[in-house]
Amino acid sequence: MPTDTLPHPEKSPERRSGELIRLEGVTKRFGDNTVLDHLDFSVDAGRHVTLIGPSGSGKTTILRLLMTLLKPDEGTITVDGQLLHPAGEKQRREVRKRIGMVFQQFNLFPNMSVLRNITEAPVTVLGMSRDEAVERARGLLEMVGLADKCDARPAQLSGGQQQRVAIARALAMRPKVLLLDEVTSALDPELVAGVLDLLRDIARSTDITMLCVTHEMNFARDISDQVLMFDSGRVIEAGPPEKIFSEPEHNRTREFLSAVL
Ligand SMILES: Nc1ncnc2c1ncn2[C@@H]1O[C@H](COP(=O)(O)OP(=O)(O)OP(=O)(O)O)[C@@H](O)[C@H]1O
Ligand SMILES: [Mg+2]
Repeated sequence: MPTDTLPHPEKSPERRSGELIRLEGVTKRFGDNTVLDHLDFSVDAGRHVTLIGPSGSGKTTILRLLMTLLKPDEGTITVDGQLLHPAGEKQRREVRKRIGMVFQQFNLFPNMSVLRNITEAPVTVLGMSRDEAVERARGLLEMVGLADKCDARPAQLSGGQQQRVAIARALAMRPKVLLLDEVTSALDPELVAGVLDLLRDIARSTDITMLCVTHEMNFARDISDQVLMFDSGRVIEAGPPEKIFSEPEHNRTREFLSAVL
């Protein structure tokens, strides 16, 4: 079942046209550590937005909030016009179906074949027929260059191959939003380029909105429409990559970039 025929829960009233993700006044604390501090930002549909910033600044926390792996302490999160937070469990599950995520550590199901890794959620979560799910999975594996690995187990693949399966698995859910958290940082250097090329292709050839956390500044410069610089739980500077990488306004951005570039 395509995601856009899913039942539409109650709409949030204040949506700006074209906006797909909005965080407003989002605060997240772990004990007395305030990780996100009244954070506001939005991402328009089809945009590719990169989050950069120092370790511990809350980048992964944002993606985990969007994946509903965490709940904020305050604030609202809206995706595709519907509240993800605050929202009841049923609505959260519906909204969550439109979001795919790829993690640093692949997180494939180790006891399932590559093909099954990709077909499992479309069948069990979206109610797709197994035949259709298998056909789509084969197409996706072809796209990521792993058509011959259908029957392999994740442990029989290289890190780069596992990550390409994880990307295919996320795309199999036909997400409107793809969240990418440092998806190449666990890879051997010679495998990084293949995964980044695949993501560039996806960015070019689909209308999926991408929100990505990366330390690969060249990649960020290449695929981003907008870069958000994070520090201490807030966006301190935002703009197109040419601007952020060449003429950052904020001292903290300059310091951070001179350390990582
Ligand atoms: N489950 C948790 N329990 C307690 N503290 C947490 C938890 N998850 C994250 N934190 C804390 O929240 C802060 C932000 O973590 P987060 O993982 O979002 O940072 P990050 O910007 O992704 O950093 P990195 O670039 O190193 O991945 C850190 O201080 C971290 O210790
Ligand atoms: Mg992180």
